[in-house]
Amino acid sequence: MTQPHQTLGEYIIENQKTFQYSSGELSRLINSIRLAAKVVNHEVNKAGLVDITGAYGETNVQGEDQQKLDVLANELFIETLINREIVCGIASEEEDDFITVKGHNENHDNKYVVLMDPLDGSSNIDVNVSVGTIFSIYRRITPAGEPVQLKDFLQPGHQQVAAGYIIYGTSTMLVYTTGHGVNGFTLNPAIGTYYLSHPNMQFPESGRIYSVNEGNYIHFPIGVKKYIKYCQEEEGDRPYTSRYIGSLVSDIHRNMIKGGIYMYPKSSKAENGKLRLLYECNPMAFIVEQAGGKASDGFQRIMDIQPTELHERVPFFCGSKKMVEKAEEFMSK
Ligand code: AHG
Ligand code: MN
Ligand code: MN
Repeated sequence: MTQPHQTLGEYIIENQKTFQYSSGELSRLINSIRLAAKVVNHEVNKAGLVDITGAYGETNVQGEDQQKLDVLANELFIETLINREIVCGIASEEEDDFITVKGHNENHDNKYVVLMDPLDGSSNIDVNVSVGTIFSIYRRITPAGEPVQLKDFLQPGHQQVAAGYIIYGTSTMLVYTTGHGVNGFTLNPAIGTYYLSHPNMQFPESGRIYSVNEGNYIHFPIGVKKYIKYCQEEEGDRPYTSRYIGSLVSDIHRNMIKGGIYMYPKSSKAENGKLRLLYECNPMAFIVEQAGGKASDGFQRIMDIQPTELHERVPFFCGSKKMVEKAEEFMSK
C-alpha cells in the first residue's frame, strides 16, 4: 500500500522486484536521472538570473562560457549517466550521433541504452514558462561486451523498459513508468527530496481540452482540420477548450490530469510533423498508455513503429483514449 510521504528513493527500492530484470541496475539508472534532474531544475530556476549576470558578454562571473540551457542540460544528464556502469549508449536530441559509453576497465558490458530530450520546450525558457526533460530506456539487443550499435537505439517503443519525464513547472515533478502504471513524484526544493504525490496516474478516458498549434491550421491534412472543427462545434460537451503551451511535457502532463488530446500533425510544410519518435513520442506514448491513454500517428500505434533513423520525426496524436480514437476516425475518412 502507498504510504503517505513516501520518497522516490524509498519507492524505487520497494518496487525494484517488479522490474523485469531486477538486478538493481535499472533502479540505479532511475536514481541517477533523479539526481541529474535536481541539478537541471536548479539551473532552470535561475535562468532569468543567469541572463542578468551574463548580460555583459559571453562569459559569466566565474569566467565560464554562458551556455544555452538545452546544451547544459544535455551535458548534465550525459555526465550523470556515464558514471554509473549501467549505460552502454546514449542518444540525445542535442547530439548528431549516439554516444558509446564504456564500462568498468573500458569494457562494453553495460546493458542499457538511454534516449533523451534533455530540455523540451526550450523556447519557453526565456519567457519563464514550464519546460521539461524526457527519457526513454531500453535493454541493448546486441550482446554485452561489444560496442553498442545503432540498432540498439532503433527499437520500437513497445520494447522500452522505462520512460519518464521531468516537468520544471510551478513545482518540479518526475513522472515515470517501468511498465507497471505511472507514478508522479514532486520535488520539495527545500530539502531536495521527491515525494510520491501522484500515485497510479490515470489518463481520463475522455476530456474537454484540445492542444494543437492552430497557427499551422492552413497546412494541416483535411482530416485534422475537420477534427479541429469538431472540437469547436456546439454539441453535447463541446466546444472543447483550447490549451497549448508549446512544451510537449507540460501540455501532456496537464491533459493527463484533466483529460484532453495533444496533436502535432504532419503539414504541407513538414511531412512528418516536428516531434521526434525516439526522444519525445515513444517515451510519452509509453507513459500515456500505461496511464490508460492512447498515442498514435493518426493511423497506427506509435510504439509499434519500427524506427529507421535516430532523429526521425513522426505525426503525434496523444491523450484521452476516446479523443484520440475520434481524431483517428476523422483522419481515416
Ligand atoms: P524542443 O524544445 O525539445 O525542440 O521541443 C519543442 C517541441 C515540443 O515541446 C512542443 O510541443 C513543440 O515543439 C512546439 O512546436 P511549435 O512551436 O511548432 O508548436
Ligand atoms: Mn522536445
Ligand atoms: Mn529539446
